[in-house]
Amino acid sequence: MNILGFESSCDETGVAIVNTEKGLLAHALHSQIDMHQAYGGVVPELASRDHIRRVLPLCYDVLKNAGLAVSDIDAVAFTAGPGLSGALLVTASVAQAFAWSHDLPTIPIHHLEGHLLSPMLAPEVPEFPFVALLVSGGHTQLMRVDGVGQYELLGETLDDAAGEAFDKSAKLLGLPYPGGPHLASLAEGGEADRFQLPRPLKHSQDLDFSFSGLKTAVLTTLRKLEAQGAVSEQDRADLAAATQAAIIDVLGYKAIKAMKQSGLKRLVVAGGVGANRQLRDFLDRETQRLGAKVYFPPLALCTDNGAMIAHAAAERIKAGLVDLSARNYSHRIRTRWDLAEL
Ligand code: KG4
Ligand code: ZN
Repeated sequence: MNILGFESSCDETGVAIVNTEKGLLAHALHSQIDMHQAYGGVVPELASRDHIRRVLPLCYDVLKNAGLAVSDIDAVAFTAGPGLSGALLVTASVAQAFAWSHDLPTIPIHHLEGHLLSPMLAPEVPEFPFVALLVSGGHTQLMRVDGVGQYELLGETLDDAAGEAFDKSAKLLGLPYPGGPHLASLAEGGEADRFQLPRPLKHSQDLDFSFSGLKTAVLTTLRKLEAQGAVSEQDRADLAAATQAAIIDVLGYKAIKAMKQSGLKRLVVAGGVGANRQLRDFLDRETQRLGAKVYFPPLALCTDNGAMIAHAAAERIKAGLVDLSARNYSHRIRTRWDLAEL
C-alpha cells in the first residue's frame, strides 16, 4: 500500500510517500526558518500562508521522485494535531480534499506519534517495547512504548520544553531562530565547566523535567558578565556550552533513570532536539554502560517532516488500527492533543 503523508503543524511543510512493505519511497520538505528568522520566532499567519504555497508543488515532487501516479496512492495521512491551528488546517484540508476526490481513506495522525515512531525509519529498527524520549520545540516527555498506539506517559516537563530552553537561551545569547542548532555550534568553542547552571528536578523522585529556570540563570549570568565589561565571544561560547550541558545532563540522566526503573534495554530518542550531537554522544555512552541501546531517527528526519507522518500511518495500518473501508473527510484538527488519548 502506498500512503501519501502530509505535515504542516508548525513551520515546516512536509510531504512523503511510504509503502507499507518497502518503507519510505520519497519525501520533500520546505522549511520556513528563513522567513520567520526576521521575527525571532514563528509568525502563525505567515506560516499558514506559506504552507498553502508549498504543499502542492511538494506533493508533485514526491510523486515524481517515487515514480508514482496519483492513481497509485492507496491512503492519505495528515497531521491532525497538536500544532498551530491555521498551519494544521492547510494540509488537513488538502489531504482530505485529495482523498475525497480519489475515493481514498484518510488517516489523521498525532504529530508526536509521528516523532515517536520516526526512529523506525533508520536502518536499524528498534523493537517494542522501548522507552522513548520525545524532545521537540513544544514537548519534552518520557514514554513507555509497548507497541503502536500503546503509549504510557512516564514523565514530562512541567514548564518549558527542552527545545524551548535551547531556543530561549539562544535568543538571550543573540543567536537567530531557531536557536537550538545555533547554540550547539556556538557551544563547540566553549568550556562547559566555567559557569555552573542549575539542573532543575534532576534528582527528583519522578521522571518530570523543568527548564524554565534555566533561561533566567542564563540571563543572570549574562547580566553579571555585562556588569564586568563587554561580553566576549569566548564568554558567549562558554555560556552556550554550559547551557547545552545543563539541558543534556538532565535529559540524559532522567532517560537513563526511566530505563533502569522500567527494566527496558532500548531507548528511542525523537524530536528536533534529538539532532543534538552532544545528546546523541551522551546517550550512546550511557546506554552502552547499561548494556542497553539507543536509537535515533535519521538526522534529516529529527525535525518535522512528512515521512514520519506517512510512516506512522503505515504502522497504524499494519497494527490493524485503521479502518481502510471508512471514508471520512470531516476530521477536525486539534491544536492541543494528549498523546496518551490515542
Ligand atoms: O521536532 P521539532 O522540529 O518541532 C517541534 O515539533 O517542536 O523541534 C524543533 C526544536 C527547536 O526547538 C530547535 O531549536 C530544536 O528542535 N533543535 C535542536 C537542534 N536541532 C533542532 N536543539 C538542539 N540541538 C540541535 N542540533
Ligand atoms: Zn515536531
